[in-house]
Amino acid sequence: MIVRQVGILGSGIMGSGIAEAVATAGFEVVLRSRSAATAAATRITLEKGLARQVTRGRLDQEQADAVVGRVHVTAYLDDLAGCDLVIESVVEDLATKVALFAEVDRVLGRAAVLATNTSTLPVVDLAVAVSSPERVCGMHFFNPAPVMKLVEIVAPITASEETIAIATAFARECGKDPVRVKDQAGFVVNALLFPYLNNAVRLLESGVADRDGIDEAMRGGCGFPMGPLALLDLVGLDTSVAILDTLHGEHGDPGSVAVPVLRRMVAAGHLGRKSGRGFYRYEDRR
Ligand SMILES: NC(=O)c1ccc[n+]([C@@H]2O[C@H](COP(=O)([O-])OP(=O)(O)OC[C@H]3O[C@@H](n4cnc5c(N)ncnc54)[C@H](O)[C@@H]3O)[C@@H](O)[C@H]2O)c1
Repeated sequence: MIVRQVGILGSGIMGSGIAEAVATAGFEVVLRSRSAATAAATRITLEKGLARQVTRGRLDQEQADAVVGRVHVTAYLDDLAGCDLVIESVVEDLATKVALFAEVDRVLGRAAVLATNTSTLPVVDLAVAVSSPERVCGMHFFNPAPVMKLVEIVAPITASEETIAIATAFARECGKDPVRVKDQAGFVVNALLFPYLNNAVRLLESGVADRDGIDEAMRGGCGFPMGPLALLDLVGLDTSVAILDTLHGEHGDPGSVAVPVLRRMVAAGHLGRKSGRGFYRYEDRR
């Protein structure tokens, strides 16, 4: 199957980043947001992001205009009808994703592949919500999606080899490096990463070092491009708590029990970069 048009469900950090990455690779994109207002706002965010790339000399104006021209934003699920591949990237909540998969299944052609960008949830639970479970897989992009090379291709036990091959080839066409992983909470990266991020919050809480000290230690001591507290802010603390809860639920590892202050910060609306405040404060929200 040749992928020509790609649907994206969700216009948050990842949905809009994936749309940019996929449109930059030359595919037509239909990005579905929940309301006309958020759909319009997503278009403006995309234009601003591409304008920054033009200023930095990474793209010329003509290329940026062509990318924007390939992204069609909509609030209507029916507009995804002609898509060959749909990538779902809404909130990390199983019930929400299952309901959306069942809805989008009614709109899509029988050959279309449905992928989820979930960070940790069981992909098989989404597969069984649609009429052809063999067409469902995970395509786990990393943040920021236009920049990060890895895509974990998640193969639930229900997926056909053809589905996995289509998703893998598509990731490569987007200039990404796909790695096949089992449908197990956290796959590879988050299973290793999140206990570490959670432990950084534990160290902060116990006063071993302050925020800047912890982040500086891990950048300087391990050569990481970003400290753990800055990375939690980038991912989003609500998404991070959801990831830790799923990891703990599946593996029972005490290191994945979200440190209580993370839930308190989410309750306060301190979600990280996307809300303007997390462990750090941000002038420009996106
Ligand atoms: N943030 C990251 O670093 C990262 C990285 C890889 C994968 N992911 C995954 O990507 C997905 C989206 O995360 P994000 O970081 O973009 O989150 P986000 O909070 O930035 O965006 C969430 C999106 O979900 C939509 N949404 C919320 N409730 C909804 C509902 N009831 N029905 C339909 N849409 C709804 C919101 O309108 C928004 O567009 C999650 O599954 C997350 O685990 C996140």
